[in-house]
Amino acid sequence: MQSKSLIALAASASGALAATPPGFEPSSETSLLVTYGNVAALDGAVVEKDITQEPPTIATQSKLDGTSFAILMIDLDIPTDNPPETNTLLHWLQTGLTQSSSAVPFNATQGSTSAFVFSVPEDEDAFAEYLGPAPPARIPLSHEYTEIIVDTSDASEDGLSALKAAAANRLGFNAQDVLTSAGLVDKVVAGNFFNVTNPGPVEGTKSSNSTTGSGNGTNSGSSPSQSPVTGAAVSQRVSASLLATMMVGVAFLAL
Ligand SMILES: *[C@@H]1O[C@H](CO)[C@@H](O)[C@H](O)[C@H]1NC(C)=O
Ligand SMILES: *[C@@H]1O[C@H](CO)[C@@H](O)[C@H](O)[C@H]1NC(C)=O
Ligand SMILES: *[C@@H]1O[C@H](CO)[C@@H](O)[C@H](O)[C@H]1NC(C)=O
Ligand SMILES: *[C@@H]1O[C@H](CO)[C@@H](O)[C@H](O)[C@H]1NC(C)=O
Repeated sequence: MQSKSLIALAASASGALAATPPGFEPSSETSLLVTYGNVAALDGAVVEKDITQEPPTIATQSKLDGTSFAILMIDLDIPTDNPPETNTLLHWLQTGLTQSSSAVPFNATQGSTSAFVFSVPEDEDAFAEYLGPAPPARIPLSHEYTEIIVDTSDASEDGLSALKAAAANRLGFNAQDVLTSAGLVDKVVAGNFFNVTNPGPVEGTKSSNSTTGSGNGTNSGSSPSQSPVTGAAVSQRVSASLLATMMVGVAFLAL
């Protein structure tokens, strides 16, 4: 996957295969071009966690219709206390994106092209601030992160309010439900996904060697109703400075 060139991927964007991960809804057949630095984060490519801690550059090969867009990034592989069951986590929801009016050079290690790059407004607060991927040493070690672009040019105020309200609950974020309630479920115009993997080994699983008999392998002391481990995993993702400024994060960690 990693060796696939950006240009080849872009060229295949008009094919019938979804650019979003298999099974993910709402899907899109249009490839979102995503790079961290110059590293392409496309088509399930495995990307080093360290380079993903700042928001990526995003673009499309062809200019999209529409004058304003939102990006959503969602982790589809949040561990739960009942592996292999997983949950989701909203990593980023930013509205007010615009696209360059002409194609500009777009570099990636896998090949350079020119593309219509999205600008993220600096004067518009994110509905959910970008959180860098940080899969914990739990099952599953590999997480898929999907990004989708939603055309919000004709979104209603109520629709945007619904989106904003939904973004307050990052854990268990269901894009299909949220976008449906916002009247935007048929407005997904591009998407893609990448893979960040914790090198392991898995820590503290219930399936660990029980002959040691310590009970260390199970929940570390919190009540089961609080999803303690997921909370801990998420807190690792949220930098101290982000926490200080991010009421949503604080509210979430208080779960
Ligand atoms: C892309 O790469 C070209 C050639 O290496 C370089 O001249 C250009 O400045 C790069 N553009 C960006 C946006 O990094
Ligand atoms: C993600 O990458 C890891 C490491 O290469 C691999 O083991 C895993 O199967 C990948 N996951 C998916 C869903 O492709
Ligand atoms: C569990 O640990 C004991 C003692 O270290 C070891 O002898 C045994 O092989 C381990 N069993 C498994 C299933 O890992
Ligand atoms: C249980 O975990 C604690 C904290 O990681 C550690 O200090 C302790 O040695 C562990 N006990 C056993 C029996 O592994």
